[in-house]
Amino acid sequence: MRTKVSKLPCGIVTMQKNILSLFMLIALLLPWSAQSAPLTLIYSGDFNGELEPCGCSEGGNYGGVLRRSTTLKMLREEQPALVAISAGQLLANESRRDQLKSEYILKAFSTFQYDAVAVRWRDLAYGTAFIEGYHIPWLVGNWQHPDSVVTTSRKIEREGVTLRVFSWLSPKRSPFRQMDQSQWLTTDDMSTVQQGLKEASERGELTVLLTAWPLRKVEREFDLADVDILVVRAAHELFSEPQLTGETLVLQPGSRGMRLGRLDLEFSDGKIEEYQHQVIEMPESVADDERLRPWYDEYNAKVKAAYLAEVAVKKRLASGDRDYLGADACASCHQAQFEAWQGMKHADAFATLENVGKSFDPDCIVCHTVGFDKGGFIDFTITPELMNVQCENCHGAGKAHVESRGEVTTPNQSMPPQARCQQCHVGSHSPDFSYDRYWPKVAH
Ligand code: HEC
Ligand code: HEC
Ligand code: HEC
Ligand code: HEC
Repeated sequence: MRTKVSKLPCGIVTMQKNILSLFMLIALLLPWSAQSAPLTLIYSGDFNGELEPCGCSEGGNYGGVLRRSTTLKMLREEQPALVAISAGQLLANESRRDQLKSEYILKAFSTFQYDAVAVRWRDLAYGTAFIEGYHIPWLVGNWQHPDSVVTTSRKIEREGVTLRVFSWLSPKRSPFRQMDQSQWLTTDDMSTVQQGLKEASERGELTVLLTAWPLRKVEREFDLADVDILVVRAAHELFSEPQLTGETLVLQPGSRGMRLGRLDLEFSDGKIEEYQHQVIEMPESVADDERLRPWYDEYNAKVKAAYLAEVAVKKRLASGDRDYLGADACASCHQAQFEAWQGMKHADAFATLENVGKSFDPDCIVCHTVGFDKGGFIDFTITPELMNVQCENCHGAGKAHVESRGEVTTPNQSMPPQARCQQCHVGSHSPDFSYDRYWPKVAH
């Protein structure tokens, strides 16, 4: 479909400067939308793991999952056929707590009935399996793993209009780029997406392309001839006004989930004729969606449990009571195993992190040391004996066993050997892992 866009001259065209609360907004819109708006597109991007606003200051007290749920519900009451898309980056992975938060963000988004959600690298921080379990229409235009829930385009049919949504996920930013190309997840071959856009356009579909690039970069890299609506890299918090480049309507969402963009499109002869744009804010006056109350309570209970578990570990460490001893404590009775272990790569796993400048990153340390987060490794100055992958990673904390001079068996004795390995040899961390091939290399 080709765009012959004009901005609708009447009414509230932009909420950008003159921001109203959601309730006023909907009241003001009703007369116009009831008459003629045949397609409403709700868009956003870069949610960035903002599960809830902190409420510490008014300027930050926007958005969050509970208010988004209410807002989408209200918008759907007004416009049941609306289309909701996201340019992705729902998740954050800056602190270890983000994983729990991410799980709950995905749980909530799977109730939002989105039509297309682009995947970005941060969404894959916990592996592809982490996002695949949720009922979310994941999309990556240049994805190269066909046996996946991630699709290369999304077809959306509403009110007689067919939208075809694509996205681009730059392989240059793939955290897997140090591996061979087949592991990168996305291809750098633009023609895959370009061809899809062309064919969709020829079928008369409204084409949408979601990217994380600034407009100038998209213009350099992509032929926009077949793109009706382009979403570019999010701005910090605030949405921009749409702009036209050639015949492509360019949208720029704001980050951190504080607002939603709304585009009401009118068509004539299969072309976008007019559009109206608003930014919907989600301040404190937007009520939390009560349907998500159990979700929220469960999340808070888990946050509390994780906190208390950490406190318990810290208390024991402060009292000098340690369960993990390090391989030296095993050597006197298991000399042969000790010497075999010394020759393994496991015994150098911390140096491996140092070599890539990641020996301070808890997300990495956890598999390259003994008992991190479980009362073991704290830091290489306080617990140097617990650097690297050692006996106790596979056999469990050795204190009771050593103090009893072997009377008490080691904690992991009944754990299947393979399961011990897969505490760490999982997903992208060890894509080629097979117990039969790996065990002989570390047998002792
Ligand atoms: C879930 C556990 C886990 C986490 C978390 C983890 N690693 Fe590893 N890492 C492994 C395993 C297992 C291997 C060995 C892979 C193999 O040989 O199959 C490995 C190997 C490596 C290697 C050696 C690769 C090679 O080619 O020899 C590097 C470098 C590395 N990891 C860096 C990191 C960095 C950086 C992080 C944090 C961003 C990290 N690891 C987080 C488990 C992990
Ligand atoms: C990478 C994981 C791993 C590491 C590291 C490791 N082990 Fe083991 N170890 C195993 C597995 C798996 C077995 C075999 C268990 C089985 O087949 O039932 C085993 C077997 C043993 C056995 C023999 C048990 C038996 O019944 O024959 C002893 C003793 C032992 N390990 C001691 C050590 C000591 C001491 C260290 C450190 C110096 C160490 N292991 C390091 C995984 C590991
Ligand atoms: C004071 C001596 C002593 C020390 C120190 C010691 N062990 Fe043992 N270990 C034994 C004895 C004795 C047995 C049982 C007899 C056997 O099978 O060799 C045993 C058995 C084992 C076994 C096989 C049975 C089981 O419990 O799983 C493993 C694995 C093991 N030790 C691991 C370790 C690790 C890891 C350390 C260091 C944290 C360690 N041992 C330190 C004496 C010791
Ligand atoms: C605590 C995490 C952890 C556990 C548990 C673990 N590994 Fe590893 N393994 C690693 C890391 C990290 C490396 C990379 C070490 C390096 O290269 O610095 C590695 C490397 C290896 C390698 C070397 C790969 C190569 O290319 O030579 C083999 C083999 C291996 N592990 C086998 C096993 C087996 C078998 C088990 C289970 C019996 C196991 N590992 C359990 C973390 C772990």
